[in-house]
Amino acid sequence: MKTLNAFIGATALAALSLFSASANAAGYPERQITMIVPFAAGGPTDTVARLVAESMSKNLGQQIIVENVGGAGGSLGAGRVASADADGYTVLLHHIGMATSATLYRKLSYDTLNAFDYVGLVTEVPMTLLARKDMEAKDLKGLIEYAKANADKVTVANAGIGAASHLCGMLFMSAIETPLVTVPYKGTGPAMTDLLGGQVDIMCDQTTNTTKQIQGGTVKAYAVTSPERLDVLKDLPTVTEAGLPGLTVGIWHGLYTPKGTPKEAIDKLSAALKVALKDQNVAARFAELGTKPSSEQDATPEALKAKLESEIARWKPIIEAAGQYAD
Ligand code: MLT
Repeated sequence: MKTLNAFIGATALAALSLFSASANAAGYPERQITMIVPFAAGGPTDTVARLVAESMSKNLGQQIIVENVGGAGGSLGAGRVASADADGYTVLLHHIGMATSATLYRKLSYDTLNAFDYVGLVTEVPMTLLARKDMEAKDLKGLIEYAKANADKVTVANAGIGAASHLCGMLFMSAIETPLVTVPYKGTGPAMTDLLGGQVDIMCDQTTNTTKQIQGGTVKAYAVTSPERLDVLKDLPTVTEAGLPGLTVGIWHGLYTPKGTPKEAIDKLSAALKVALKDQNVAARFAELGTKPSSEQDATPEALKAKLESEIARWKPIIEAAGQYAD
């Protein structure tokens, strides 16, 4: 009899907590929301996050505050969200690094495919292969020759193992079969400062951080990783035109919540994301920066889940072949 009472008690408690979470979510959002960006302020992820957060805040009627939590190529910030309360008031804006880190890191503080719920895809951003302004090489062929001839001193900036800049740098070094000296930062915002100052030689970074620098001539640009040339950087050849088709890569970004977030909250976040991605200001700013908002059908939990799963499978063998891991 005691076991039956205990069972009934536990079931009632579980139902009550589920009901109260759901009831709380009914009025969601009732206070400000924190959007964790797992890289330093001023970089490409931060730029995307602040544009989307500003527009989503209007649709949700509550402020979304962006908090930068850099380190370990984005996995520190992702871990922060994985362990946050699953109440809809902490969200994560992260990119392809969510997928690559699942292979790159032998030990993450979270289980990539079981620690998060999904809101939707946000945008897919091309990358640009850059060098400091006074780099002698006139084209990618020349840059490769220079890198091979000076491998022990050519420095490549990235935002840590797991970052998009790390992935692109890894693909570049694999393609030229030459390891170079990598210099990690907490984001490519601070890395760009050193590239502009000539303290670091090469960086592969997203157009959301590099378009204005390239247009302003403050860095030397060699190629873009999109399949086609970009309207905003018409003179920049694609990596395929420049002879490195293996560097064709788009940095997709997604919005996540901790696992167990009430469905009502996720539905409201996904609806607000869809409205934000149709916001003329967001679309115009994205276009100026060489990218565009994800489609309505991609700004859904199902699309983001499918993307993450397929991208983990896609990059796993490539990373294993490159043999680059983080302990
Ligand atoms: C990266 O993956 O390189 C990051 O996007 C850099 C950043 O956002 O700061």
